[in-house]
Amino acid sequence: MAFEIKCVKKQSKTSETLIVPLLKKGKIGGIALDIDKKSGGFLKRALRVNPAFEGDNGQSLALSLPAGCGFERAVFVGLGDTGKLDELACEKAGGKLYVSLKSGKPEHVSMSAPDLGKNKLDSALALAHILNGLRLSAYDFDTYISADKKKNTLKRIDYVGADDRDAQKHFKALDIVTSGVFTARNLVNEPPNELYPDSFAKRISKLLKPLGVDVEIIDEKKMEKLGMGAALAVGKGSERQPRMVIMRYNGGLAALGKKGTNKTAEDGPLVFVGKGVTFDTGGISIKPGAGMDEMKMDMGGAAAVVGLMHTLAARKAKANVVAIVGLAENMPSHNAYRPSDIIKSYSGKTIEVLNTDAEGRLVLADALGYVQDLYSKPKFIIDLATLTGAMMVALGHEYCGSFVNDDKLWSAMEKASGASGEKLWRMPLDEVWKKDMESDVADLKNMGGSRFAGACTAAGFLEHFINEGTAWSHMDIAGTAWSKSAKPTTPKYGSGFGVRVLNQLIADHYE
Ligand code: BES
Ligand code: ZN
Ligand code: ZN
Repeated sequence: MAFEIKCVKKQSKTSETLIVPLLKKGKIGGIALDIDKKSGGFLKRALRVNPAFEGDNGQSLALSLPAGCGFERAVFVGLGDTGKLDELACEKAGGKLYVSLKSGKPEHVSMSAPDLGKNKLDSALALAHILNGLRLSAYDFDTYISADKKKNTLKRIDYVGADDRDAQKHFKALDIVTSGVFTARNLVNEPPNELYPDSFAKRISKLLKPLGVDVEIIDEKKMEKLGMGAALAVGKGSERQPRMVIMRYNGGLAALGKKGTNKTAEDGPLVFVGKGVTFDTGGISIKPGAGMDEMKMDMGGAAAVVGLMHTLAARKAKANVVAIVGLAENMPSHNAYRPSDIIKSYSGKTIEVLNTDAEGRLVLADALGYVQDLYSKPKFIIDLATLTGAMMVALGHEYCGSFVNDDKLWSAMEKASGASGEKLWRMPLDEVWKKDMESDVADLKNMGGSRFAGACTAAGFLEHFINEGTAWSHMDIAGTAWSKSAKPTTPKYGSGFGVRVLNQLIADHYE
């Protein structure tokens, strides 16, 4: 999967494919001009005789080149209208480019610098984003495919003759974020027989400790001692015991202790919480068989939180960040929790279980309760969870519904969404839904009274576990963490959704 990207001064002899990016109706630039000369005007002529290729964003045209010009083939890729060219447009073009590039089974590709004319985007930045788009699109989860059957052939991309240093610097910065996205994708794509609460917790340690993140694993015994009755109930049906994992990253100036001592939220850490149900069968309220395999992605929230911590630590973000993930497997068995059980959450609130398939909110309730006991004045709390099918019905795979109780936090999230390309849509919080989650026989129940507004009642349930006055957002990533169809920069299956927008949020508003 991994290929190298190198900035080189001169074209390499082993490179067989030349990529030529250009604006809509634009000109070729960089080494493509030399290749055009060497081949007697072949590239410019190709553009003339293929008028259907205009350079629309992501449009591509592949040609074989005459012998003696150094490359076997060239692939033109359109960047689109000059007025619309920005970082995200470059990324999209790079992502689409990979889709047409891979049919030629390239191994060593070279990229020519684009001629951007008077465009305000500088060409080094544009190139870095095209490459980043290509990298995001070329992701392939092939851990379990035998070596001789792996599909990805690409080993190296040279970025030839441009302003090396700038492009290198830009690309490195983008690549750190992409590594976090890949961490999240890899975790989501792992099969649940390999990735279960204990193995997930160990993977988090192995990944984040070397980056300077403090990782604390709370096993089931400690969870029992602490009184995490909700998360434990979810895991009861499974052989694989639940875990909570706390990650602490001390990138800010103030020391980040095991517990928060800050007096005001302004000085508090940023807190992230992730749902990590490593497989959701539904439990005794079992799900239908069709599509159940997809429920290995029910730890997408935890995966995004871990991917985010990876990126923050790797780029040495100047912020104090605490993350907690609740890991459990939801299985039916003679030990499993039942509909009508009444359980006691860490916070002390009791919960009537009406449906064992509404388990994510139970795991989150304990994670939220515990992290707020440790850090009672966080700057904000953002939880990510593949929480409801209703969210997917409402917004599909394009937008992530985000419930936010604080306008300032939402305003920052909205900006980060626009800048990162991960789309958020604000959803309503309402007393009506909060109230709907109150039970006749316990403090709360885990399912609303009607089958409508399921994503909103789930948020209403979580709201009961947020301390008064704390800025909080719940991101229901049920539709965005996983997709069966590919987008330009997101191949099918685990998307790693959340890493980019939250990294952007921190970089632009909280560092
Ligand atoms: N993990 C599911 C939600 C989900 C469904 C995520 C589809 C991604 C794709 C969650 O645990 C669940 O089953 N929720 C129930 C809640 C209901 C029983 C109140 C749902 O949405 O049906
Ligand atoms: Zn469920
Ligand atoms: Zn679930």
